[in-house]
Amino acid sequence: MDRAAVVKVGAAASASVCAVVGGVALAQYIVAKKKRAGKKTRIIEMMPQFEKPTVHMRNPERVEQIICGLIKGGASKLQIITDFDMTLSKFLVNGKRCPTCHNIIDNCKLVTEECRQKLLQLRNKYYPIEIDPQLTMEEKYPFMVEWYFKSHTLLVEQRLEKDKLPEVVRESDVALREGFEQFFDRLHQHNVPVFIFSAGLGDVLEEILLQARVYHPNIKVVSNFMDFDENGVLRGFKGELIHVYNKHDGALRNTEYFKQLKENSNIILLGDSMGDLSMADGVPNVENILKIGFLNDKVEERLDKYLDSYDIVLVKDETLEVPNAILQKVL
Ligand code: TMP
Ligand code: MG
Repeated sequence: MDRAAVVKVGAAASASVCAVVGGVALAQYIVAKKKRAGKKTRIIEMMPQFEKPTVHMRNPERVEQIICGLIKGGASKLQIITDFDMTLSKFLVNGKRCPTCHNIIDNCKLVTEECRQKLLQLRNKYYPIEIDPQLTMEEKYPFMVEWYFKSHTLLVEQRLEKDKLPEVVRESDVALREGFEQFFDRLHQHNVPVFIFSAGLGDVLEEILLQARVYHPNIKVVSNFMDFDENGVLRGFKGELIHVYNKHDGALRNTEYFKQLKENSNIILLGDSMGDLSMADGVPNVENILKIGFLNDKVEERLDKYLDSYDIVLVKDETLEVPNAILQKVL
């Protein structure tokens, strides 16, 4: 081929490459434009955290609407209502189960081996009931009361000492979800009230927050608090029992707290159990509520139900990235 022919072929080739590249770019532009025009979920699109495969939503448009309402209200209208075990704390670390508040005590050296075995047997019997997708909350209720009664009776028999709790927590494998510092610090910085409503053990929970240096004054913990005698030995539990499926009357039992917060009509609710969905029941004057659920276990069997009830479902997500991304927009 002579020089002129080579130049001609080269020019034709580069022109067709240009045409292909240009065509692809144009197609991409059109698809992106169409996508933008067709979707109303713009704030969600602005948060890359929502692209993670762990994030599931039945109705993204509704989530968008609620988040818009939260943004409009800002810090002064916001309050957080959250569960603790397996919501603020991790479910798994390196494939190993993390302890609940109760498990921290079950596994500690203050408890006899015999008692530990009994507590483990209780857990093996009742935890599958707690998460059974075939049973209704009403059906589970009496079993949960039974579990708590038996488990707390065993703990009292161990005559646990209050002074030992900090050491027990320090030596445990408990871990808060990735991003917890940012979560608690931002809420503190903007003075957003945080109501931690836990069927765990209040004393253990508070010690976890203290050791993590996030027990800020904007946090209120409502949980099962231990009652110690004058020698600091466990003799029972204070107040009415909170278990996984009686959280619906939390607001009723804490009327003073929620009355003070009647201007905080926007709520972000965080939970991991179907029972946690009712944590905001009875809260007066709710304008917007965003329910975020962590689905940690029995995912396939439970995802549908969780999607029916939680606005955002985070499947096997050990982080607080999504709540943090939303808070960053709202605060
Ligand atoms: P939460 O309301 O903060 O999630 O805490 C309740 C969890 O504690 C719930 O998942 C059941 C669990 N639990 C134990 O792990 N061991 C026990 O002995 C009892 C009574 C409850
Ligand atoms: Mg929980």
